[in-house]
Amino acid sequence: MQKNIFITGSTDGIGKLAAIKLATEGHNIYVHGRNKDKLDAAILEIKKIANNKNIHGFVADLSDLNAVKQMSIDIKSKLTYIDVLINNAGVFKSPIALSKEGYDLRFVVNYLAPYLLTKELLPLIEKGSNARIINLSSAAQSDISYNAMLGKQTINVNESYAQSKLALTMWSHYLAKQYKELTVIAVNPGSLLNTKMANEAYGKHWSPAEKGGDILVDLVLSDEHKSHSGDYFDNDSGAYASAHPNTYNERAVEQLIEFSNKLID
Ligand SMILES: NC(=O)c1ccc[n+]([C@@H]2O[C@H](COP(=O)([O-])OP(=O)(O)OC[C@H]3O[C@@H](n4cnc5c(N)ncnc54)[C@H](OP(=O)(O)O)[C@@H]3O)[C@@H](O)[C@H]2O)c1
Repeated sequence: MQKNIFITGSTDGIGKLAAIKLATEGHNIYVHGRNKDKLDAAILEIKKIANNKNIHGFVADLSDLNAVKQMSIDIKSKLTYIDVLINNAGVFKSPIALSKEGYDLRFVVNYLAPYLLTKELLPLIEKGSNARIINLSSAAQSDISYNAMLGKQTINVNESYAQSKLALTMWSHYLAKQYKELTVIAVNPGSLLNTKMANEAYGKHWSPAEKGGDILVDLVLSDEHKSHSGDYFDNDSGAYASAHPNTYNERAVEQLIEFSNKLID
């Protein structure tokens, strides 16, 4: 069955690789990027390689929460349902440290924007068939400092990235409990994959980017993941694994959700 699949950050890296594979399988792909020209080029490339005309695009800079809201209004005016949402867009290195609102940039792009986008799109996702939400986590997960996330305390890039990824992982686990009819999975696609992100951050890679693209395709299509809603898939080991302990700490998760709701209001 043809699925409606929305992939954030699919103008590059593993998001684009997954988009190409899923388009080749005949699914309708909604590509997202922050730059209109790069988005248009990605759409053309995916259409050509996959020989699939049903590739459409949406633009929003995820560091701007107003742009995220605007994009979700646009999506809701054009789509009636979404079967799979892959919250894949992410940032590690960046010339700027803070968002427009003064919040930690990585916290906004890697966590708060997907949190807001998903909240807005849930009515469409609930209408999807065998609906799934795939959230791109990482092996790097670290205890959240709310002052740092609010931009009131300076932390290094590694810390801010790892804190944003733990936030995303904690929220994934929570979301699965709230929406039992959906399959929600947090995934570390593999460490130091050969993409722009890893090469800019570390100047090296350990594995081909395809390792990450392929696990996203599997998480979208394979039935074996249906019974794993709320779980964390670690593609370094190729298996489901335990995430950071705070993922399972109800009080810590409640604090995060309360904090997040205040910021997106
Ligand atoms: N690569 C790894 O080793 C690795 C390991 C663990 C987890 N991950 C996670 O996997 C996901 C994909 O990473 P990747 O390696 O494929 O990275 P990538 O090649 O750098 O691609 C990132 C994608 O996110 C988009 N993006 C970045 N900032 C954005 C913003 N402010 N607004 C909208 N879109 C934005 C990029 O857009 P542009 O094309 O405009 O730059 C690009 O499409 C990320 O969430 C990352 O944290 C990656």
